[in-house]
Order: sequence, then C-alpha cells, then structure tokens
Amino acid sequence: MCLKFLKSSVGRKYLMAVTGVFLLGFVVAHMLGNLQIFLGPEALNSYAEHLQNLPALLWPARAVLLGAFILHVGVSISLAIENRRARSIPYACGATVEASYASRTMVMSGLIILAFLIYHLLNFTFGVTHPRFFHLVDAKGRHDVYSMVILSFRELPVSGAYVAAMGLLCLHLSHGISGLFQSLGLAGAMPALKRAGAVIALVIFAGNSSIPLAVWLGWLKAVGGGSVE
Ligand code: HEM
Repeated sequence: MCLKFLKSSVGRKYLMAVTGVFLLGFVVAHMLGNLQIFLGPEALNSYAEHLQNLPALLWPARAVLLGAFILHVGVSISLAIENRRARSIPYACGATVEASYASRTMVMSGLIILAFLIYHLLNFTFGVTHPRFFHLVDAKGRHDVYSMVILSFRELPVSGAYVAAMGLLCLHLSHGISGLFQSLGLAGAMPALKRAGAVIALVIFAGNSSIPLAVWLGWLKAVGGGSVE
C-alpha cells in the first residue's frame, strides 16, 4: 500500500518534498557553519575539527543526506521523463505550459547544481582540484579550512563559478520551496508560500555568496600561519 503510494505521481512528489526539506536543512546548517569564517580562523578550524571528531554523528548524517540526495535526484528525473511523455499530448490551456516551463527550469538548474556539488567535493572534501590548499595545517596542527577556502576563492574563476552556482541554487530553491509546501498539502496560502520560498532562497544566496565576495574585496585574508602537512 505504502509502496504503491510512493510509486504514484503524488507519492513521488511527496518524496521530493520530504527529501527536499532534508537537503534544505543541510544547506542552511552548512551555510551557518561556513559563515563562521567571518569570526576568524580559530572559529572555523575548530568547528571543522569538532565535526570530524564526531564520527558517530557525522557518518549517519552523511548517509541520510546522501540517501535523500539520491532519492531527490532520481525521483525528479523519473517525474521529468513522465512530464515529457505527457507533453507529447497537445496542451489544453496556457496554465499547463507555464507549469511545464517551471519544471524544465528545475531539472536544468538541479543538474547544474549537481555538477557544482561534484566540483565542490573534489575541491574542499577530497582535495583533488587544489591539493596545495587542501594540505595546509594551522598553528595548532588542524586542517586549515579557513586558509583553504580563502586561497581557493582568491582565484577569480573559482569564486565566479561559486557565485553563479549560488544564483542557480537560489532559483532552484525559490521554485522548490513553494512546490514542496504544495506537495505537503499546504497549497492554501500559495502567494505567501511563494514569497517565503523567495526570501529563504535569497538569504541562502546572500549568505553563501558573501564569502567569495568578501575574499574578492579583500575583507577576508588568509592569515599565512598555515603550513603544508
Ligand atoms: C560559499 C559557499 C560554500 C562554502 C564556502 C563551502 C565550504 C565547504 C567546505 C570548507 C567543506 C569541507 C568541510 C570539511 O571537510 O571540513 C564543504 C563540504 C561540503 N559542502 Fe560546502 N560550501 C559552500 C556551499 C555549499 C553548497 C551550496 C552545498 C550544497 C548544495 C554544499 C555542499 C557540501 C557538501 C555535501 C559537503 C561535504 C560534507 C561532508 O563532508 O559531509 N556546500 N563545503
């Protein structure tokens, strides 16, 4: 019964909404963690070290996040394929055209965000794209996340790509947040939900983009205490 519901179009939209809430929660928590860069290297490096020292919390959280992510992407692709098939039948009214345009934008922005995420993990989590910044340690022998982020963002193509990706994330979230409320059965207050979605998305854009922008403007500088591991 439950599986039948989850396989239905409504059930899959529900699944998109629930996994979307998890992913949104991660994006907000991650942004708040990253904003500690404005408090200086001690705050950010000790925060990163604390997270790494909590494997009993970190690994289950990573597993849930990865599961939510795979479901979110997988279900969105299956719904998009279904929509495309349905679109081969001519539209009866303009409203359907508008809805399908929004969903096309969602799939496209979602795929570009996926590409950003792969680059982002290669950059800051696996140290593949900028190994010389990844292996820095601070004066206390900790992974120097503060210097790694600032030195990476000093490269204009990198920070430019981040701000562009945050713009797309903002677009994706502003559609997605109002859609997820609708899928969860809260469509009654649609204009307010649309505004709430746009405001949350803009706050995330501003918070995340403030880091590369502050590096560009010279407000955030690597302290130079980092050494190579
Ligand atoms: C300017 C914006 C961002 C900055 C400065 C940033 C910074 C970082 C850093 C430093 C790490 C590595 C943390 C560590 O290993 O200690 C990281 C990991 C990660 N970031 Fe970001 N991030 C940003 C935006 C995003 C966004 C928008 C997403 C999602 C759409 C994201 C998803 C992730 C994920 C999934 C990880 C791996 C987490 C883990 O290891 O469990 N980040 N980020």
